[in-house]
Amino acid sequence: MFNIVPTMKIMQTASSVVIETQRLILRNWLDSDKKDFFEINSNKDVMEFFPSIYTQKQSDDLLEKMRDLISRNGWGFWACQIKSTNQLIGFVGLNNPDYPLPFSPCTEIGWRLNKKFWYNGYASEAARAVVQYAFDELKLEQIVSFTVKSNIRSIAVMERIGMQFSGTTFLHPRVLNTHLSEHVLYVMHNSQFSR
Ligand SMILES: CC(C)(COP(=O)(O)OP(=O)(O)OC[C@H]1O[C@@H](n2cnc3c(N)ncnc32)[C@H](O)[C@@H]1OP(=O)(O)O)[C@@H](O)C(=O)NCCC(=O)NCCS
Repeated sequence: MFNIVPTMKIMQTASSVVIETQRLILRNWLDSDKKDFFEINSNKDVMEFFPSIYTQKQSDDLLEKMRDLISRNGWGFWACQIKSTNQLIGFVGLNNPDYPLPFSPCTEIGWRLNKKFWYNGYASEAARAVVQYAFDELKLEQIVSFTVKSNIRSIAVMERIGMQFSGTTFLHPRVLNTHLSEHVLYVMHNSQFSR
């Protein structure tokens, strides 16, 4: 059992959910985030476990896609900003993958932060609040997370928030036949989450 007790507030705006933690705000995306988001997506260390860094257009397209999904569902891969400075540092949130995976259907929890803001505990702080939202508000049975086997920083976030290795590795269909294909699957069931 894992006890998650983040200091968090959930606010429902007209079109989306906003989550506030001790140091962070998770909110929907703004046009003014495009510059900072591109800085993240064009950094080769941030994108080490993806096929390539993004162009400005790829970065903007992803921002628009995440914004549309949040506007439609209320939740998604939220923009994550530091409360005290309003600095956008990346995204943390939930997503229903729109392509088939061996364990579909599923809701994944995921994160991507600007390298300048790694090693402050921000990803885990936001992710803990997102787990609580997923189980308490969305009433999900289970969330999953997956990443390239060698992405130890992402796996550390999964373990820090109480997710467990499922025992399953799988070949990610979007990067088959590349050095990125072997992924580990982590899971957390609603019953493993104690309030
Ligand atoms: C995955 C990723 C979000 C992890 O970022 P991170 O900064 O390592 O993770 P956290 O925000 O949870 O920070 C944890 C670290 O902050 C440290 N820390 C410092 N101050 C802290 C505080 N106040 N509270 C908690 N932790 C703190 C912890 O000790 C830990 O460092 P350690 O790993 O050296 O022990 C980041 O590496 C990233 O964006 N990677 C690229 C994108 C990616 O691969 N995403 C996943 C794809 S599936």
